[in-house]
Amino acid sequence: MKLGKDDKMVSKEILHEKIELLIDPTCQKTLKETGGVRYVGIDEETQKAVLVIALEKKESDKVKHFKLELTKLIKLELGFAGLKLELEELNPKEKGTVLDKEKNIRYIGVASGKGGVGKSTITANLAVAFAKLGHKVGLIDADIYGPSIPSVMDIEIKLPRGTEDQKIIPSNKFNIEVVSTAFFVDNNKPLLWRGPMLHKMLEHFFYDVKWDEDIEYIFIDLPPGTGDVALDIQSIIPQCDMIVITTPHPTASTIAVKAGFGAKQLNHEIIGVIENMAYYKNPANDKQELIFGKGGGIDVAEQLEVPLLGQLEIAQPKSGSHSIFSLDEPNGLIYLSIAKQIIQKD
Ligand SMILES: Nc1ncnc2c1ncn2[C@@H]1O[C@H](COP(=O)(O)OP(=O)(O)OP(=O)(O)O)[C@@H](O)[C@H]1O
Ligand SMILES: [Mg+2]
Repeated sequence: MKLGKDDKMVSKEILHEKIELLIDPTCQKTLKETGGVRYVGIDEETQKAVLVIALEKKESDKVKHFKLELTKLIKLELGFAGLKLELEELNPKEKGTVLDKEKNIRYIGVASGKGGVGKSTITANLAVAFAKLGHKVGLIDADIYGPSIPSVMDIEIKLPRGTEDQKIIPSNKFNIEVVSTAFFVDNNKPLLWRGPMLHKMLEHFFYDVKWDEDIEYIFIDLPPGTGDVALDIQSIIPQCDMIVITTPHPTASTIAVKAGFGAKQLNHEIIGVIENMAYYKNPANDKQELIFGKGGGIDVAEQLEVPLLGQLEIAQPKSGSHSIFSLDEPNGLIYLSIAKQIIQKD
C-alpha cells in the first residue's frame, strides 16, 4: 500500500470529521460538542482506524450499540480493514459543557523542546501581530516552571479579579487578553511541586477564563520539554495546533524535531517552524553574522514536513520597557508576515 502524504492527511481529516459527527448516546450530544474525540489515527500496516473516544458515561447499555454502529461506519462506509478503539470517560469538567471550540476559537500552542530559544518572546509578539491585523486574541502563559509572559509584555503580576460565577478575568495589554501561571503560583514554592499542578492549572485556564465574546485565537506559551506537557495539552485541548521554535543550532533543532514529532503523534497539526536568533546584522558593515550557526530552521521544517514560517534576527526591541517589536523594526515585520501566513491557512 502506497499512499501519498496528502492522501493520508485527507483521509485522516475526513475520518476525524465523521467521528466528530457521531452522537454520544450517553448524553445525546455530538462528539464535537462534548470534545470527546481524543485521538484519530490510521495504522498504515494493518489499515485499521485507531480511535480514542471519551463518552459521558463509559459503563452504559447504550455503549455496546455505539461500538457496533462505529465499527459499521469504519469498515463498511469508510473502507478500513478494522478498528482499534479505546473508550474513555469525559473528565468531570467537560461533562455538560459545550467546549470553547464551539465558539470557533483556534488554539495555537508554541513549543520548542529546548528552553531559552525565545518561545515566550515569540508567543507575545505573534499575539501582538494578530491584534495589529485586527483579530481578537488571548494568550495563556502555561509555562509553570518559568512563566515569563508578564515580564515580556510588561504586565503586573497579581491575582486576577473574578466574576460572580468564579471565572477569571484576564489582564489586558496591547489589546490582548492574558492569563499566566505567574498570577497564581507562589514563587517561594519549590519547583518540584509545580509539575502536578500543571494539569489542574491548564484545565482552569481552558474552562474558567472569561474571555472576550469575540475572541478568535488563543496562543499558549508552553513550558519547554517534549513529554508530559504535550499529553496534558492533548487531553485538555485536543484541537490545539502547534508552532515549533528552534534556533539555527543543532542542539536546539534536534530537540525541536522531537517536540514536533511528539505533538504530531498526538494528532496536533503543526502549523510551521520559526527560526529565532537566525543571524546578527552587524551595524558596522550590514553583514549577517551567523552567530548560532545555520540551517536549524529549515532542517526542522523539512523533517516535520511543514513550512519554515520565518527567520528572526538577533535584536532587542527599541522600546526598552518590554520585548515587543514595532513595525519599523525588521523583526516586527517578520512577525507580521508570520501572522498573515497563519491566518491565511484558516
Ligand atoms: N531574536 C532575539 N534576539 C535577541 N535576544 C532574544 C531573541 N529572542 C529571545 N531573546 C532573548 O532570549 C532570552 C530567552 O527568550 P525567551 O524567554 O523568550 O525564551 P523561552 O524559550 O521562552 O525561554 P524559557 O525556556 O526560559 O521559557 C530572553 O532574554 C529574550 O529577550
Ligand atoms: Mg518562556
